[in-house]
Amino acid sequence: MNPVWTVVGQGAIGLLAASRLHLNQQQVQLFRRQPGPFRYQFEQQQQGLRQIELPAATAPIRLVLIPVKAYAVLPAVRQLLPLLSADAQVVLCHNGMGTIEQVLPLLSPAQSLWFVSTSQAAFKPSASQIRHTGSGPSYLACLKATDALHTQWVQSAMALAFEPLTLVDDITPLLWRKLAVNSVINPLTAVHQIRNGELAQPQYQALITQLLSEFIAVAQHYGQAFDQADISRLVYSVIGNTAGNYSSMQQDKIHGRPLELDAITGYLLQRADEAGLTLPAHQALYQALRAGDQSLSSPR
Ligand code: PAF
Repeated sequence: MNPVWTVVGQGAIGLLAASRLHLNQQQVQLFRRQPGPFRYQFEQQQQGLRQIELPAATAPIRLVLIPVKAYAVLPAVRQLLPLLSADAQVVLCHNGMGTIEQVLPLLSPAQSLWFVSTSQAAFKPSASQIRHTGSGPSYLACLKATDALHTQWVQSAMALAFEPLTLVDDITPLLWRKLAVNSVINPLTAVHQIRNGELAQPQYQALITQLLSEFIAVAQHYGQAFDQADISRLVYSVIGNTAGNYSSMQQDKIHGRPLELDAITGYLLQRADEAGLTLPAHQALYQALRAGDQSLSSPR
């Protein structure tokens, strides 16, 4: 019998991962605020619609994927702690940085922590519909050693949930790389309320260049070397590959939900502050979004 996976929440990436696990004959349960099973429609790329029903989670929880927004990670972990088994494997998956340092000290000696950084894209047209809208590589790293059996469980399940998945020893450079992408695309699309593809327009070019050079200066201070041309190519390739999509921050803003700003732009500003650097372009985006300021909404 396969071990049971618990997926926290009912966000787009979480339901994508839960659906893929379920459709690959894994046992999956959902840890949500609402009691009872959750029934939804899953639309896979080129594979049509599936009706899926997943049961509500029961304790003890041994294998748990926490694909919630960065600001919700710590509250979720605190809520889960009394329900986790002594050998629980906790997998984080979100945009931005800063949560690993917060969660590691909360785990007991035999519990382990993992991180998945993904470029899979999913969209929820309604509360009970989930659409897989884009594929891309994902990376998995173990942040606290565990035994061979648990390693095997986590690696094989995450490969099903996030395929194509690569195992890496050190997730930090990849998290910085993703931070470069998210710290450009997410706040800009949220401030201007545009699809990702709009950022390829020439009027955004100078600002994107400045955001990236500010990012490179901070990253370099923390031992992460990035080349401007290389990181710019990466950002524009994501803009091109996800041209028709709305970013997660654009969606959060339009629906009046909290933004992942503190784990993305805020994280960068905090690290810059500690390093004695100033980041005027990131600071301006941060302030515009914090204040709900629309003054940047017309760059033309
Ligand atoms: O947060 C998001 O929406 C995604 O990480 C990305 C890569 C910006 C694409 O929309």
